[in-house]
Amino acid sequence: MGILLAPGPVPVLDEISKAQCKEMITHRSGDFTKLYADLCTRLKGYFGAQEAYVITGSGALGLETLALNLCEKSETAVCFPNGEFGDHLFETVGLYSTATAHKLDGGKGWNLERAKEHIDNSHAQILSMVYNETGYGVRNHIKEICKYAKSKGMLTIVDGISAWPGTEFNMKEFHVDGFVTGSQKGIGAPPGMALLGLSQEAVDKFSKRDKIPGYYMNLKRHKKRYEKDQQTPNTPAISLFWALQKAFDILDQKGGLPATVKRHGDAAAYTRKRLIEMGFQLMAEKDFESNTVTGFVCKDAEQAKTVKAKLASEYGIKIVGARGVYLDNGLRVAHMGNFDIKWIEQCLDGIEKLK
Ligand SMILES: Cc1ncc(COP(=O)(O)O)c(C=O)c1O
Repeated sequence: MGILLAPGPVPVLDEISKAQCKEMITHRSGDFTKLYADLCTRLKGYFGAQEAYVITGSGALGLETLALNLCEKSETAVCFPNGEFGDHLFETVGLYSTATAHKLDGGKGWNLERAKEHIDNSHAQILSMVYNETGYGVRNHIKEICKYAKSKGMLTIVDGISAWPGTEFNMKEFHVDGFVTGSQKGIGAPPGMALLGLSQEAVDKFSKRDKIPGYYMNLKRHKKRYEKDQQTPNTPAISLFWALQKAFDILDQKGGLPATVKRHGDAAAYTRKRLIEMGFQLMAEKDFESNTVTGFVCKDAEQAKTVKAKLASEYGIKIVGARGVYLDNGLRVAHMGNFDIKWIEQCLDGIEKLK
């Protein structure tokens, strides 16, 4: 055992794990219809989406589903990577449109002031970016950027995989047309499900297309089947869907989204305060700090290696290294999902002793 403080997969509460152990049902049964309709209805509410689907597969499958259905080869997309996951999103969107990337790195975040000129000059039909860049722990200001992009008539696609539900979000208020999160992140379920939200504009766009170049990820198939009997077009990971339902129950029991965002925000602020008091430099630029993961810079690669290894061997606490320019000397503490604040305290006490 031990304490896992990685930015996904996060620890799964026993109740959520056990929810998977039910007698198997088929996905063509009334029981499955009840389960899937409940998941999609609740997800629509949480996201503020017009339509929502749960697709069996990882977060990247969800992103590719959005790109495949919402981007066309004849269209151009503008992307704003500021780390590894932003690069992956750019690559994905670029498979289904002509994409251009404007890059920041090293913990810098995107706000409207920085993105505006690129949006203006792009004349693109699509904007796609990451809400929470997990590699450094940077929260991009997607609300103001997407609002501006929508005022220019663009369709907005956001990777919210490591942001939700620990970060403030609502598709309508944030002007987002396509959104994805992963089950192994803040919702605290096991890995293997992509949670998708779509605006009315996004639904209209893929519904009107003659040919979508995909089968499993084709949202027309998911929509058609859902409208028929609230089932999925192919066999889903039914056991995982039960776990997700339990994770939604726990989200609601814990006060819903506002309480969850606050719990994550408080843990993030506490983590930053402690690390700064210890003399560490944080990766995220001020005003771009993540609610779900904090990256910090060690004095050298040796310190990063030692702190990470000894936290695991002496305290049973697992944290992860950073990415990109801080690959060697950076560490990240995740405060994501159904964590207990005591775990974060123990982790920071450990770092303080080991540094
Ligand atoms: C922001 C972000 N995007 C995409 C991914 C990829 O998700 P998955 O590994 O579930 O495909 C991750 C995973 O850590 C992520 O943090």
